Amino acid sequence: MHSHISVAIYERFPVIIIVLSTIAAFIFIPHILIQDPISQLPIIGIEHGNTEKRRQAFIATKLPDDILSFDEPVGESLSAKYTKLIFKNPIFPHTVKQNLTPALVRLNPRISQEVEEAITREIPPCKDWTKVNVNQKLLRIVAMVSGCVFIGPEISRSEAYIDAAINYTIELVVATNAVKKVRPILRSFPTWRLAEIKSLDRWVEEAYAFLNQWLRQGEMQRKGRWLMGNAKDFEVDTDEDMARIQLGISFASIHTTTLTATNALYSFAAWPEYIEPVRDEIRTVLAQHDGIFTTRAIQDMKKLDSFIKESARQFPASLDAYRYLCGATARNQFISVTQNVMTFGYGRHACPGRFFAANEIKMIVAKMLLRWDMKNIGEEGRCDSIYFGGQSFPDPTKELLLKKVQD
Ligand code: HEM
Repeated sequence: MHSHISVAIYERFPVIIIVLSTIAAFIFIPHILIQDPISQLPIIGIEHGNTEKRRQAFIATKLPDDILSFDEPVGESLSAKYTKLIFKNPIFPHTVKQNLTPALVRLNPRISQEVEEAITREIPPCKDWTKVNVNQKLLRIVAMVSGCVFIGPEISRSEAYIDAAINYTIELVVATNAVKKVRPILRSFPTWRLAEIKSLDRWVEEAYAFLNQWLRQGEMQRKGRWLMGNAKDFEVDTDEDMARIQLGISFASIHTTTLTATNALYSFAAWPEYIEPVRDEIRTVLAQHDGIFTTRAIQDMKKLDSFIKESARQFPASLDAYRYLCGATARNQFISVTQNVMTFGYGRHACPGRFFAANEIKMIVAKMLLRWDMKNIGEEGRCDSIYFGGQSFPDPTKELLLKKVQD
């Protein structure tokens, strides 16, 4: 099905560039709003003091969404009116906060199994040094693991789901750009004819198909899947809307998680001297937890946590891998949201999926380190990143060499 869809990621490099820039926009528009216009509000906040105090007073907690909107710039930048992206319905953040995050303690061992199986399915054994495009592999692994959590393994392992989950983001960005080329005044009239919008709609039909399959299997009733359970409370009435929300989850979670895991692997390949100490920590911690990735075990992998957080920093030309071990306070963890590190945003809308994402990334990277040594092909150091809007992204076309760890 959709053989054109499974074209290798590196063959779609121009599209990937567009996707990366849109993800950058999605992530950073809120911060642009935070920093620029509001720091211009002394007249209504002068009593609070300097810019920082006003920023705290107005942004960090107080301004309601109808004054400083998180959703509107996301919807506008992705031409939601035409791409039919569902961006205002809070069912997704609600489900992540109320259902997913509290269930992680129970689910982590199960998620770990899924990570293990996905890695085995996707990456060859690499008995000798073998070239692997880790970004491409991670996209599929992350899509399966996220899908397993949100819709169950029966569907999350199907090619139909994996294709839709990965490529919806790309199709959405292509459609958005096509809409933006049409003059605003003409948009509401001719847009329905745009090939890119039709193609996007086909993705939604795919999602609709696998959701129907899911419903027919009684999966929701059997496992009490959260989104379906919450649909009524959030007035998600049609299967098509549910399909769009499911794809929105893929948009928010799959590429972001993959990029972060890719960054960590590129850093290990560039600074292989960290592989053995971090691997050693992972082995020691797992030995203390019966070999199971429990929440506690994941938390105890502190060198790994610091390494991943450091690798997600903007300009990875140098690496202070244990920077965040210092003091080992809660504020230094990868999932911590502070004014100094905004990987997951800041304030009321800070990424609610970060607890799941961090666990997933740590499991993936840990399991890969336990299986393989990794290094760059030829060149020394960290490969160049791609820069957009002041952000850096790992080059998705790069291959690493992997080799099975000798027992
Ligand atoms: C490493 C992976 C991820 C990164 C770097 C990331 C980053 C972000 C950022 C920067 C924001 C905007 C926050 C703000 O403006 O303050 C955000 C929002 C959001 N993220 Fe993530 N995210 C990741 C993974 C995930 C995952 C796995 C999920 C779901 C399972 C998720 C769900 C969401 C949701 C629902 C929002 C919107 C929050 C709201 O509307 O209040 N994210 N994310």
